Amino acid sequence: MEGIKIDLTYCAGFFNGSEFDESLETAAGMADSLDKKTGRGREYLGWMDLPHKYDRGEIKRVIEAAARIRGQSEYLINIGIGGSYLGAKALEDALHLKGKGAGILYAGNSLSGTEMSRLLSFIEDKEVSLNVVSKSGTTTEPAIAFRILKNHMEKRYGAGARDRIFAVTDSSRGAVKDICDREGYTSFVIPDNIGGRYSVLTPVGLLPLSAAGADILQLLEGAAEVRRGCVKKDSECLKYAAARNILYNSGKTTEILGVYENSLRYFAEWWKQLFGESEGKENKGLFPASVVFSADLHSMGQYIQQGIRNIFETIISVESPPLDVIIPPAGDDGDGLGYLSGKTMNYVNETALKATVSAHTAGGVPNIILGLPEQNERHMGQLVYFFEYACAVSGYMLGVNPFDQPGVEDYKKEMFRMLGKPGH
Ligand code: PA5
Repeated sequence: MEGIKIDLTYCAGFFNGSEFDESLETAAGMADSLDKKTGRGREYLGWMDLPHKYDRGEIKRVIEAAARIRGQSEYLINIGIGGSYLGAKALEDALHLKGKGAGILYAGNSLSGTEMSRLLSFIEDKEVSLNVVSKSGTTTEPAIAFRILKNHMEKRYGAGARDRIFAVTDSSRGAVKDICDREGYTSFVIPDNIGGRYSVLTPVGLLPLSAAGADILQLLEGAAEVRRGCVKKDSECLKYAAARNILYNSGKTTEILGVYENSLRYFAEWWKQLFGESEGKENKGLFPASVVFSADLHSMGQYIQQGIRNIFETIISVESPPLDVIIPPAGDDGDGLGYLSGKTMNYVNETALKATVSAHTAGGVPNIILGLPEQNERHMGQLVYFFEYACAVSGYMLGVNPFDQPGVEDYKKEMFRMLGKPGH
């Protein structure tokens, strides 16, 4: 299978003796308990079977709803926060979907009145559909956005708003579910056994992505390919979990995901939530950070090269970027770039990657390189599942439950008390 390849050349020097083999053995044991559903949080393992056991009828409904959205609207406003939007945004960008289907506008991922006001002005004269994504149906940010935008839709389209509002939510609980039932919106279910950060391959990600023009069946197929192989002891997925666990135990407590394509910026945001919420608990866990190179070499490069040595990097290297530009000759070579004349920008980008990996490793920052063949649906589906599975295994290796997020509630209690929410 052509797929994600891991290169551990630039971190092997940071491993002692048989450490890697032992860690890989442990990772395989954890993968076994994931597969047998004997570990912590086993009631949230629905994501594992999504790529190969998905409900075909439901996916057909998603594709039909997406076609309806594209047919009636220039834009889909997608309301959601955290796991209810980052995956869609990450893949919309990574797949370069802008201009392919409906444009996606995001709402409900902040409490900024400025953002909402600008959105309302922008959509004033546009044809839009609205999709609210909230598993709990009670999260404050999307709930406020939904109230405001539902009101806009009803004023703008009257009774026709009903055919332009969609929802992805719990099957039986929450305010969004109640409103959907009452108003008769087309709705989709986030299964009980799938947490927000593991939900991108459910209608949470698939509906907006399909509306934007993605081939969601290919996305699922790519994920299924990794699913079939990841449990094997020598899988790339388990090697990644094993390597990062050794580095963590040796004091490298920050993992930076580095990408060399601006279109992967939000993929790194999705990755940060996946690993941060899954591992950061019980006073443990790697701190997930991200950089977009080469831009961030001009801002964060200094720290990575010479700051506190508690960092390692995981680099996504795209093997075949879709487009390229040749650097043209310039008559007098006044800019001193004659040595690059006739070379491509991607060649220079690739060289920057190799040079940076080499310099950072020499500076005491181990690098794990993940080779991604292409940024298309199949390979992005592979990458999503690769990280989901590696994250679950990593959480088990750390000794935490990778599927809960008890700490997320604390700020909410304080905010509700200050806002005067009844009962707080
Ligand atoms: O991963 C998570 O559980 C969170 O990021 C949630 O997705 C986020 O808080 C949004 O929750 P909800 O979908 O219930 O509105």
